[in-house]
Amino acid sequence: MKITIFGSGYVGLVTGTCLADAGHEIVCVDVDEDKVARLNAGEVPIYEPGLEPMIRTNMDAGRLRFTTDAEMAVNFGLLQFIAVGTPPDEDGSADLKYVLKVAETIATHMQDYKIVIDKSTVPVGTADKVSAAIDKVLKQRGVELEYDVCSNPEFLKEGAAVEDFSKGARIIVGTDSERVKRAMRECYSPYNRNHEKLMFMDVRCAELTKYAANAMLATKISFMNEVANLAETLGADIEQVRHGIGSDPRIGYHFIYPGCGYGGSCFPKDVQALARAASDVGYNAELLNAVESVNKRQKGKLFQKLVQAFDNDLEGKTIALWGLAFKPNTDDMREAPSRELMESLWKAGAKVQAFDPEASRECKRIYGERDDLTITDKRDDALEGADALVICTEWKAFRTVDFDFVKQKLNTPVIVDGRNLFDPDTVKSAGLLYFAMGRGESLRKVTY
Ligand code: UDX
Repeated sequence: MKITIFGSGYVGLVTGTCLADAGHEIVCVDVDEDKVARLNAGEVPIYEPGLEPMIRTNMDAGRLRFTTDAEMAVNFGLLQFIAVGTPPDEDGSADLKYVLKVAETIATHMQDYKIVIDKSTVPVGTADKVSAAIDKVLKQRGVELEYDVCSNPEFLKEGAAVEDFSKGARIIVGTDSERVKRAMRECYSPYNRNHEKLMFMDVRCAELTKYAANAMLATKISFMNEVANLAETLGADIEQVRHGIGSDPRIGYHFIYPGCGYGGSCFPKDVQALARAASDVGYNAELLNAVESVNKRQKGKLFQKLVQAFDNDLEGKTIALWGLAFKPNTDDMREAPSRELMESLWKAGAKVQAFDPEASRECKRIYGERDDLTITDKRDDALEGADALVICTEWKAFRTVDFDFVKQKLNTPVIVDGRNLFDPDTVKSAGLLYFAMGRGESLRKVTY
């Protein structure tokens, strides 16, 4: 099939590449000339396991192209995926200006029937707005052309996006058109072999399914963080509680890891946008608002623990930080807990020595050169001359640690672990103070 993808960001790039890999002919179109030039030169702007070689293979095979030529792109594919950003507006609602701009572009250049597919995460009702934008331009052009708009939300996790695309649990398509159903079945047939993953529903249900899925996952995390804080106050260990409750299949073990708060490009934005959409229609989404405020509070926990460990005096201290990305296997630092921590530390007059296996470049891009930030090339170099170690991301490379070595390196024996990576007794037996999330420890008075 010939397919056009608008937007070569994270979602567009993964979608285009995976569909090309399945044998379709793909044109990816983006307004960013520099990005398109770099992609055509084989440079991949994001880190995503498996993506780079897949892009190269499919470009070499002539199935994947990148362009800024919207007219050519519109007239290339029967399917026109919209995979551009929906950044939050000031009030938290999703800003549709890029999505609607693409709809206008499609309407400006189309010469025959097109299927326009909302892949971006967009509020309920967006398909109607996309249709209205297309109608308006077609009317201005004075032409009558057929088209359909459908919703096909993505469920890709950063760091596992290629795998999620090919092995995802479901493919949701919101449409009531038989023609669209046939085309989408053909589009996804390479990924729909072993069992039926395609779920057709009406367009509003598809739009809401995406938000509901992310909001449910975010709710699980905030719930666990709330219970972790409670466990800490009550002197219980959340990790034992987590095992205890996860064993009930109705609860399950997935997505109940307490930590220093969820980040990334989806959960914070989508929970806010859904709450905002609710209030726009006069519904007060109390639970969603609480999910967000619990998460905000949780992101401040790492700093609070340091304040407690250093009796509120962080001025002049150097804090080693392992993990900048919002989660492992990505270089993405959007809404990452590390950012809130670093910014609080800088305000308190402390310095940061950070290491991350992938996000160093991204961190430099965000914060630039500053005297109070050193990014090291090796994990253990971040410990050099540091007063305490904080872990923000659960990269595999942080799980194996020689605690005697860490103790020897740190000026004060303090580890703050935002991801509960270690057995508290092992850490403590090396003479280190261990502040983890929801493990009772932080109630004890610090002495060294
Ligand atoms: C998420 C959804 O999982 C995906 O389906 C959707 O399409 C986009 O949003 P992503 O943001 O890439 O994907 O990351 P995910 O692995 O879901 O983690 C999100 C955040 O939750 C991370 O900050 C992670 O550290 C945190 N998290 C996750 C927890 O704190 N505890 C958990 O148990 C799981």
